[in-house]
Amino acid sequence: MTEFYQFPGGFAWGAATAAYQIEGAASEDGKGVSIWDTFAHTPGKVLNGDTGDVACNHYHRYLQDIALMQELGLNAYRFSIAWPRILPSGRGEINSAGLDFYDRLVDALLAAGIVPYATLYHWDLPQTLQDQGGWVNRETSKAFAEYAQIVAARLGDRVQHWITHNEPLVVALHGHLYGHHPPAVQDATAASQAAHDLLLSHGLAMSAIRAAGSSQTQVGITLNLHPIYPASDDEEDRAVARRDELIYQSWLLDPLFRGAYPFDAMQAHGVEHPTIEAGDLEIISQPMDFLGVNYYTRMIATGSVGDGKLKPEDEHTAMGWEVYPDGLRVLLELLHQKYAPKAIYITENGAAYEDVLRADGTVQDEARQRYLQRHFCAAHAALQMGVPLRGYFVWSLLDNFEWTYGYSQRFGIIYIDYATQQRHIKQSGYFYRDVIARNGVMGE
Ligand code: FCB
Repeated sequence: MTEFYQFPGGFAWGAATAAYQIEGAASEDGKGVSIWDTFAHTPGKVLNGDTGDVACNHYHRYLQDIALMQELGLNAYRFSIAWPRILPSGRGEINSAGLDFYDRLVDALLAAGIVPYATLYHWDLPQTLQDQGGWVNRETSKAFAEYAQIVAARLGDRVQHWITHNEPLVVALHGHLYGHHPPAVQDATAASQAAHDLLLSHGLAMSAIRAAGSSQTQVGITLNLHPIYPASDDEEDRAVARRDELIYQSWLLDPLFRGAYPFDAMQAHGVEHPTIEAGDLEIISQPMDFLGVNYYTRMIATGSVGDGKLKPEDEHTAMGWEVYPDGLRVLLELLHQKYAPKAIYITENGAAYEDVLRADGTVQDEARQRYLQRHFCAAHAALQMGVPLRGYFVWSLLDNFEWTYGYSQRFGIIYIDYATQQRHIKQSGYFYRDVIARNGVMGE
């Protein structure tokens, strides 16, 4: 018999977005240029030459989008604030029109009964700061704290949940080691320094937000995390799994929760030691109110290719990512046991599929619905094990600009017809509405 999994009262059910991926209005109302504006406009960097210039035009359509959130019954919404809207040059002169936009957004959310969760950095660094070295220049961490203070001073009476950074490891590795995200650097020392400066900026911003906010203020960080499965019991595979755990888990979690980097172990894997000043690790490891977890798939660690190894399940999303819901349960339990965050939010989970908008305006995305259902069940299993999971944000509210994939990958529970900017709630969106209404999900 299929079981119904009830979630605890007060559970946050939301959806997530990011400024550059949905807002558009890339040069309106005094907004400065970000590194993603520059990068997307560089030929050959983004599929089909797509840019976030218009995206979902959410900057102008935010009221319509909030009405859709209400229709879905969301009680929470995670969005990011575009730093270059607030400080067009990254530091110094404030663009009040930029602050006004988020002020209106927050008021409209609250009026709709939706709790705002604001992310301060979802990858759109002001270009001026990049020109001065970006995340490998310690000054950027100080500039980030100033920006955090300005935003929290304006919104902190109404926004109680703050996420400093989204996926700093992606910024460090994709931006500074592999170079396929801006600033397109390929240098191991730069990657390591960027990771450190990002964490430092997180710590500095936490203090700034707490000082400017209310007694209700809660601050955390969002990391991209995967549980790691050795492909077999072979020593070779297990060694790769240990290396991957160091890089994809301990590198950032250890300094955040334990005040120490695992560099001795990491150096054997080509990770360079960054410049760290006295006191940095105390700033970084200040207690957080919650940890944000972005989970999409697991990692399989393999040292060699051969038979008899763990095979990824044959179900994949359009991104080519393996669908592996139990990895979410395993990851949440691992985090709870190893690092014991006070609270955890799943700040992103979702899937891209090749959606078809039918003539009757519907999108029958069974695969996404099933992906979500199975992951909700995995989250419930973690709750049963005592994991302090407080909320779940589906990625994403809207189809949007998926970074180097441009508009080719659709992650939304709402379909965007980019030619007309019309929105259509997908079947998965209606499914999510029912889950939220019942505060629970039917098992598989
Ligand atoms: C995450 C990003 C988010 C989105 C999803 C698919 O890494 O945080 O912006 O691109 O992946």
